[in-house]
Amino acid sequence: MIRRRPPVGDLPADDGVALRVERLTHRFGPAVAVDEASFELAAGEVFGLLGPNGAGKTTAIRVVTTLLPVQTGRVTVLGTDVTRDPMRVRRMLGYVPQQLSAEAALTGRENVALFARLFDVPRRTRRQVVEEVLELVGLSAAADRLAGTYSGGMVRRLELAQALVNRPRLLVLDEPTIGLDPVARASVWNRIATLVDAEGMTVLVTTHYMDEAEHNCDQVALIHAGRIRAVGAPAELIRALGPQATLDDVFRHHTGGDLTNSGERLTDVRRARRTAGRLG
Ligand SMILES: Nc1ncnc2c1ncn2[C@@H]1O[C@H](COP(=O)(O)OP(=O)(O)OP(=O)(O)O)[C@@H](O)[C@H]1O
Ligand SMILES: [Mg+2]
Repeated sequence: MIRRRPPVGDLPADDGVALRVERLTHRFGPAVAVDEASFELAAGEVFGLLGPNGAGKTTAIRVVTTLLPVQTGRVTVLGTDVTRDPMRVRRMLGYVPQQLSAEAALTGRENVALFARLFDVPRRTRRQVVEEVLELVGLSAAADRLAGTYSGGMVRRLELAQALVNRPRLLVLDEPTIGLDPVARASVWNRIATLVDAEGMTVLVTTHYMDEAEHNCDQVALIHAGRIRAVGAPAELIRALGPQATLDDVFRHHTGGDLTNSGERLTDVRRARRTAGRLG
């Protein structure tokens, strides 16, 4: 298991707030992808960003992870403004992107070691860190196999291991369980729960699986056409709709559509297919 280490940096955790997004707007040309979105993650909570394809989830995440600039609004990670000090924010973050990022021609261990080098994990602790995170995601036994031979669930867990090499305080997961079977999905969520319990990590996650969000997220935000429509604990949002309601109903209520989306783009379909194929 990973031992607890002192947090990166020396600033207080911004009054227990791990991530604060304030009136964030992001445009691609004339199109508004994120529209005055505000939400807050308390330290140590699992927060789900839910919404149809094209709602703006990945765009918001890319701003939070410093991969896109803040155009309008303000984003702070554990008290650090992402615009003022992106390097510091990057050191506090772990990110598993929506697209698969593991390299098929390397072994599991080599994939993780590569990230450890990229994240400047000191040479003398690198080997140990790599072994610890592989253990944490349950891949020690498969560490010498090429990632190309891994099942989809193993690939996602490998990517989780990669995101953990720098002991992030905020872990950002964009559809960590897409295309996985129920057992593999449960396994990924178990690993996430372990990290939150053992390390006090904060998690921002997107998923299209409402059952996962209901059972694993402390809070969820419903986002539609770039706007945050509702935020709350899944049980609260469900209760507000009535005794027979489900989180699927909450999703439909706030996004005005169904789970299989209206504004789906060809690139989404292609990407989902590519993902499913690769994971297949
Ligand atoms: N690089 C880009 N250039 C132009 N438009 C973009 C770009 N990235 C995203 N968009 C647009 O921004 C909007 C939000 O896309 P985004 O990828 O954030 O949605 P999402 O909620 O993550 O969807 P999904 O569930 O399909 O992953 C979409 O209309 C999309 O077409
Ligand atoms: Mg996305």
